Amino acid sequence: MTAGPTPIPPRVSQVMAEPVLYHRAPAFVELYGSVLERLKGVFRTQNDVLTFAASGSGAMESAVANLTAPGEPVLACAAGKFGERWIELAEAYGAEVVTYAPAWGQRLDPAEIDRILGDHPQIAVVFATLSETSTGVVHDVRAIAEVARRHDCILAIDAVSGLGAAELRQDEWGIDVVVAGSQKALMCPPGLAFASVSEKALDFASERGNGGYYFDWAKTAKGQRKDPPDSPFTPAVTLFSALDVALEMIEEEGIEQVWARHALLARATRAGVAALKLDLFGDPGENANVVTALQLPAGIDGGKVPGVLRRLGITANGGQNQLKGKILRIAHCGYFGAFDILTSLSALEMALHELGHDVDHGVAVGAAQRVFVESPVPTAA
Ligand SMILES: Cc1ncc(COP(=O)(O)O)c(C=O)c1O
Repeated sequence: MTAGPTPIPPRVSQVMAEPVLYHRAPAFVELYGSVLERLKGVFRTQNDVLTFAASGSGAMESAVANLTAPGEPVLACAAGKFGERWIELAEAYGAEVVTYAPAWGQRLDPAEIDRILGDHPQIAVVFATLSETSTGVVHDVRAIAEVARRHDCILAIDAVSGLGAAELRQDEWGIDVVVAGSQKALMCPPGLAFASVSEKALDFASERGNGGYYFDWAKTAKGQRKDPPDSPFTPAVTLFSALDVALEMIEEEGIEQVWARHALLARATRAGVAALKLDLFGDPGENANVVTALQLPAGIDGGKVPGVLRRLGITANGGQNQLKGKILRIAHCGYFGAFDILTSLSALEMALHELGHDVDHGVAVGAAQRVFVESPVPTAA
């Protein structure tokens, strides 16, 4: 129940046991082209989805490398650990970083972004996050995209944990760049990084010519646009085979249904937390569909909760940085169904009891069950 690497469906594991393909062999070239094409469906885009052998941070770095230049101002929005990564990356590349950093757990306020961009008309790029995994908050990137467009800014969104879990319609919402990774809702191992980049953002990057070498968008776009597509570097062939199968599963379920399943799992988790009379962390809202972050009771040693859960067979995340020991994060991102939630809530009840909290056993499980009984969305295939 962590937000990645997440569990992998048996079908995906099995295909990775097959012989490793040579990346210029017809079988791989065909698979590569098919995966690149079908990835667009998950991003809801017509863009090329540029693919790198890297973790999600590699895709974030590609965005910063290609969109920034030393001394040029950018806006980085951060209300958690991963938003802060945008700030760190932009600083590492020498950009002049204007930050909008409300407290961890807050939702980014599009009106505030509007105000900052109004005060800094020279800013041409905005970085923000879809699902802030450290707090559970899913930000309103659609509204942020409207603001960015009004100020004629390129918007780059980190959807590493959000893609395939939280609703995201890149083209319809007008988001220039979406970056993601393979090990979250895409149900694959870590190692593939994606950057779905609009023509406008590609042109903007080309004008700067600053993308470095491996992460240079123009280089990868040129290779992927060949017929048949070619990768400028050796692709992570085994992970492409895995992603081929994972995409098949997403296509069978339908991306809208995948989002609905995540929403249901999150609703049931929130109902369980409420039944335990525990509070959610921050300002998650109704669309916190990727990770449920809950405040641990003050009377227990919260830092011990993940360890007790692990002994019971559940791997979940505690808080990061200043939230260590204060919150628990139960992820429902990827290959999860109703019984993963029910089992986790059951283990949470037992763990809280073991650590001295007064628990009415079964209340969280019962509350979540009622959500599933009322809206029986099928479990993951
Ligand atoms: C929202 C978000 N952004 C970025 C990252 C970093 O991705 P990676 O660890 O794959 O580099 C993560 C990882 O958990 C994440 O959840």
